Amino acid sequence: MSAILEVRISAARMLTPVVRELTLDPCAGPLPGFSPGSHVQVHLPLAEGKVRNAYSLTSDPADSRHYRIAVRLQDTSRGGSRYLHRQVQVGDTLEISPPANLFALHSTASLHILLAGGIGITPFMSYIAALEQQQANFELHYLYRPGLSDAYIKALRQRLGSRLHTYTRRPDLNAILRDRPLGSHLYTCGPQPLLDAVRQQAKVLGWPKSRVHWEAFNAAQPGQPFDLELLRSGQRLRVGAEQSLLEALESCGLQVPNLCRGGVCGQCKTRYVHGEIEHRDSFLSPAEQADFLMPCVSRGCGPSVSLDL
Ligand code: FES
Repeated sequence: MSAILEVRISAARMLTPVVRELTLDPCAGPLPGFSPGSHVQVHLPLAEGKVRNAYSLTSDPADSRHYRIAVRLQDTSRGGSRYLHRQVQVGDTLEISPPANLFALHSTASLHILLAGGIGITPFMSYIAALEQQQANFELHYLYRPGLSDAYIKALRQRLGSRLHTYTRRPDLNAILRDRPLGSHLYTCGPQPLLDAVRQQAKVLGWPKSRVHWEAFNAAQPGQPFDLELLRSGQRLRVGAEQSLLEALESCGLQVPNLCRGGVCGQCKTRYVHGEIEHRDSFLSPAEQADFLMPCVSRGCGPSVSLDL
C-alpha cells in the first residue's frame, strides 16, 4: 500500500450539479492496468492533515492511458469531496494509490444484473465497457434523482438502449430479482439502505450469497476527539475530530494494511485493549467487536483508546 502514483488532472466537467468528473493522466510512466470495478485512493492534503478517499474508476479498463473518477459533493463529509470539487483545477497534480478491486466482475455469469443508486453508478461504468467488449449478457437498473444524481444518464441511454432500466423512486426489487436465469449474478452499489433492501430481497428469493455482490460508499465521518495509546510502542497521540483513527496512525508513521477505507474489506482489523468504541464498520461480527475495531471508520467515543500496536 505504500506505492503512490502522481497524476495530473487533464480534464474536469460537471456531470450534474453535485457530481464532478476528473480525468487523470500520469505524470511519469504509464499508469497500471486495472480490472472492472477497481477503485483508487486519492490522497487529499486538507487543512487538518492528509485524508485518503476511495473513488471507483469510471474509465474503460482496456485503456489505461488515463483514469477517470466521478466525485459526488458530500454535505456531511470531512472536506475531501469539497476539495475535489472546489479547489483542484485542470493542470493540478494529485497523489493516488494504485488501483485495487473489491468489487470484481464474475466472468462466468450467464447474466449480469447491475443495480445502481445515485453515485453508485460509478463502478458500473468500467463494468459496462468490459461487458460490452465481452459481448456479455447484462442489464443496468439505475435509480437516481433527476437533475441531481443522474450522472452519465444521457450517454447510458444512447449506449444501452433497452438494457437500461431507470427509476426515480425505489424500484420493485422483487420484480427485478425473481425468476432470473440460473447462473445470473447480481451487483449493487449505492446508499446503504438500498444495498440492505437489495440483499434482503435476494435472500428472500433464495439467491445464493455467492451470486450477490455489493459495494458501499462509506467514508470516515467526523466524531469527537480522543486520546490514543499504542501499547507496544508506548506512543501517545490525540485523534482530532476530523481525523480518522487510521489517519492518526499513519500520521505517526505506522503502516496499517487498508484497501477500502470504508469499513468493508477487513484489511485494517486492529485489536484494542481499552476504550469505548463507536463501531461504524460492516465487517466485524458483534462478537469480534468486543476485541477488534476497524480504524478506517470506527473511533473512540470516550476519553481514550489503547491499541495492541
Ligand atoms: S480499510 Fe477496509 S475495513 Fe478498513
